[in-house]
Amino acid sequence: MDNTSKSKFVLLTGGAGYIGSHTIIPLIESGYEVVVIDNLFNACKGEGEKPVSILQVEKLTGKQVTFYAIDLLDYILLSEVFDKHEFCCVIHFAGLKYSNESCNIPLNYYKVNVCGSINLFQVMMEHNVKRLVFSSSSTVYSEPHFLPITELHPVGQSLVNVYDKSKYYIEGIIQDLCNSDKEWFVIILRYFNSVGAHSSGTLGEDPNGTPSNLMPYVAQVAVGKIQSLNVFGKHCSTIDGTGVRDYIHIMDLAEGHVSALEKMQKSNDSGAIAINLSTGNGYSVLQVINMFSQVSKQEIKYEIVDCPNGYCDSSYCDASFAKEYLGWEAKRTLKEMCEDTWRWLSLYPQGFSTTT
Ligand SMILES: NC(=O)c1ccc[n+]([C@@H]2O[C@H](COP(=O)([O-])OP(=O)(O)OC[C@H]3O[C@@H](n4cnc5c(N)ncnc54)[C@H](O)[C@@H]3O)[C@@H](O)[C@H]2O)c1
Repeated sequence: MDNTSKSKFVLLTGGAGYIGSHTIIPLIESGYEVVVIDNLFNACKGEGEKPVSILQVEKLTGKQVTFYAIDLLDYILLSEVFDKHEFCCVIHFAGLKYSNESCNIPLNYYKVNVCGSINLFQVMMEHNVKRLVFSSSSTVYSEPHFLPITELHPVGQSLVNVYDKSKYYIEGIIQDLCNSDKEWFVIILRYFNSVGAHSSGTLGEDPNGTPSNLMPYVAQVAVGKIQSLNVFGKHCSTIDGTGVRDYIHIMDLAEGHVSALEKMQKSNDSGAIAINLSTGNGYSVLQVINMFSQVSKQEIKYEIVDCPNGYCDSSYCDASFAKEYLGWEAKRTLKEMCEDTWRWLSLYPQGFSTTT
């Protein structure tokens, strides 16, 4: 692949989802032409072809986003999208993402996440598009051996759920692909916990069913949709006995993808490079609850319960490589994460179905 390619067309798989839709905004602001494919499995359908998230992005940016409602597993339709556009790069968000669910339906997770990725990489190969940003996860590190977690931390050890394994396997496939063909350049972004919403309050996370991660759960308690929250603790060896995690504002994460694309456009590097994308700051569950309560002026009811087996006390990253390699660092605070989540939920209490 010629890295001097003048094409500014970027394909986002799963671009109608939470992280993908937010990422479109800074991409458009940076002059990229965005094309999205998504099968709408976890995105709210709008009127007509386009999902609500994409329509909201179009309102915010004043620009059209090309959208195809297709499945990653459909080789022929995927190939046709590559015939129509000359992409400089692909950002691969599409996938199934719920850890608990993944153990109940492992074949679905492997099919969509692993087979879907292989499908995509084959179509990319055929069309000589060899630049990729891949959405991986901090869960490939499993229980941390040391803190903060650097990219040199071992991966793939003692992974317990199918989702985490699928991310680890895809990283391995990418590595093998890059070993076999030196023209590939892949940036593997290992996200920590992405939270928050666009500051307009018109775009945010719209989880199907009961949320499985902390911030949307806290928000649902604040808005009265869920009565109370179970908090694991008080026996973790942390500041207040509850688990500490690394949270990143969704717009910081979105901007991290633009930095990755810029790097790909300018650099002659090749191979696969894994990068932690987060703040490097850990906050306890109670710190998050208290901040959310302060910002929303709502009482957040919670109950302390025993930690499940294998619950990890603390997990947060060393974010210095992202700064060094991509020139990117997260800027937004925990307060902004809570404020923007609250604004989104106050305006759209039923998520995107509020707008349809
Ligand atoms: N949200 C997080 O905190 C987090 C953390 C680590 C990694 N990730 C990874 O980042 C990526 C994006 O996460 P998200 O939070 O935006 O998830 P999301 O579910 O909101 O978005 C994923 C999108 O992919 C689409 N999709 C699913 N299967 C598809 C298929 N077969 N064909 C086409 N489209 C398909 C869904 O409809 C959805 O719009 C995922 O790969 C996820 O595993 C997310």
